[in-house]
Parts: sequence; structure tokens; C-alpha cells
Amino acid sequence: MLKVSKAVFPVAGLGTRFLPATKASPKEMLPIVDKPLIQYAVEEAMASGITEMIFVTGRSKRAIEDHFDKSYEVEAELEARGKVKLLELVRSIKPSHVDCFYVRQSEALGLGHAVLCAERLVGDSPFAVILADDLLYGSPPVMTQMIKVFDHYHSSVIGVEEIPVQDSKAYGIVDGKEWEELIIKMSGIVEKPDPSAAPSNLGVVGRYVLKPRIFKHLRATKPGKGGELQLTDAIESLLADEQVLAYRYRGTRFDCGSKIGYLKATVEFALRHPEVGVEFREYLEGHLSLLPI
Ligand code: G1P
Repeated sequence: MLKVSKAVFPVAGLGTRFLPATKASPKEMLPIVDKPLIQYAVEEAMASGITEMIFVTGRSKRAIEDHFDKSYEVEAELEARGKVKLLELVRSIKPSHVDCFYVRQSEALGLGHAVLCAERLVGDSPFAVILADDLLYGSPPVMTQMIKVFDHYHSSVIGVEEIPVQDSKAYGIVDGKEWEELIIKMSGIVEKPDPSAAPSNLGVVGRYVLKPRIFKHLRATKPGKGGELQLTDAIESLLADEQVLAYRYRGTRFDCGSKIGYLKATVEFALRHPEVGVEFREYLEGHLSLLPI
């Protein structure tokens, strides 16, 4: 049984919802308190035993590559100033047993196309796909939960959560039957349907564990919703070949692709932050009481 040791991070999106912040830097580099979104995603993968990180980049290549590369200048400076803790922190971004690979998606042709760009690097192994703008907080981490399901059933696993059905146009929506607690045997999946056409209220969050057969289906997939090559459509086609499971993860999601989700994540992570949490709580409590109800 092959181990899930690779993760694909599609990071070529334009991040138009965060302009002008994302004009010259990728949305995945936006920080939640003091860590960029992409680092949370990579940490989730590392905590789940993944050691090969494959970034599908666009024009944003530089900043992400630099972030996971060794920075001699920063390290030398911290060393010279005796800042041991910070030095450890900087070095832990990419431990030596982890490798990073980069492949360029030259045109923004959709999530399915981004995953297809990673085909050669992934090869014939099962792999994870992690969308960094869905920041998931779970214990154990959500990808760890999903790999456990994959290891048990040897089927592709799609992370889902219950969503208000009126929001179906923002998600891939799965169809299927609850098989076991939290596990749904899928019979279909549709990308961003109208609420009237949504087969359920289970929306796909940005976590997938996929068997390599998905590539065959991605290669055959035609442009779908929004004229883009959709991963959802390839999964629908994969269902004709093999079993695919949806998994209702345990944890909390912050949709950091939207301003309000990003702000909620910032407040929550700031309140939990060991350095600033207490002071930030006092500040918020003091200020909120001054606001009219
Ligand atoms: C993508 C997928 C969608 C999924 C969503 C989760 O859409 O196409 O099926 O529900 O991620 O965040 P996007 O949000 O990139 O438009």
C-alpha cells in the first residue's frame, strides 16, 4: 500500500479579492498574525507525514519559493545577534527531511489544470491537494484525519462540510450516502450548482487525497464551470472507474479567500497566539464595549 507522501499546493491564483494587497505578491503569502497562509498549509501536510511539497505556481513563484528556501542573510543576522529562538523558528519552516518542488502553471485554466500540471512530479502515487486559502484548524490536523480514511479504505477522499444550501454556488457539492459516521460513499459531485440543483448540503473544502488515476480523467476533462478545467468534473468522471469517499472532517474552517473569513481567522488566531493573545483579548473587550449594540 502506497503512502501519501506528496502534496500539491495550487498557488497560481490571482487573488483579485485582496487587491491591492495581492498586486505584487501571492494571496497565499498573506499572513494570519505572523505566518503566511501557505505555511499553515505546509505545516498541516508535514504534520500528516507528507515530505514532498509540490507548488503549482504562477506569476507568484518568487515569494513562495524564497519563503521555503534557506535565507543565509536572515539566518546570519539572527545568529550574530544571538536570537536563538527566532533562528530556530526560521529554520523550522522547511525541515531538512522535507523537499519542495515548483512547477509553473503558465495560464490560469482552473484548479483541475493546476493539478494536472503536477502530474510528472506526482507520478504514480496517491497524493494530497491542499488549497491554502481554506485554513483548517483541527486536532488532529484535517489532512491527518483524511489520510487515515484513505489508508483504511484505499479510496480517494474528498474533504467536505455542511454548508448553508443557499451558498452552493461557491462550492463543489457532493452527492452520496452516509456509509459510516463522517464518511459518505459518493455517487456524484457538481461544481458550484444553483441551490435548486444542489444534490446535498455537503460542500467541498480545499482538501483532497487522490489516487493517481485522477490524472487520466483530468486529461480527458473539458472546460466546465467558468470555462475552467475543474477538478470537480474529473472527480465526477473518476467515480465511473472507482469508489470515491467524502469525509466530513472534524475541525473549523476559515475561508481566507474572502475578506470576512480572513478577518475571522486573524482574530481567532490572534486570540490564541502565545505572545499577543492575552493583550489582544483585553484590547478587544475594552473596545467592543464602547461600540453601540
Ligand atoms: C475550489 C473548488 C470547489 C471547492 C472550493 C473549496 O473552488 O473548485 O469545488 O468547493 O475550491 O474552497 P474555488 O473556491 O477555488 O473557486
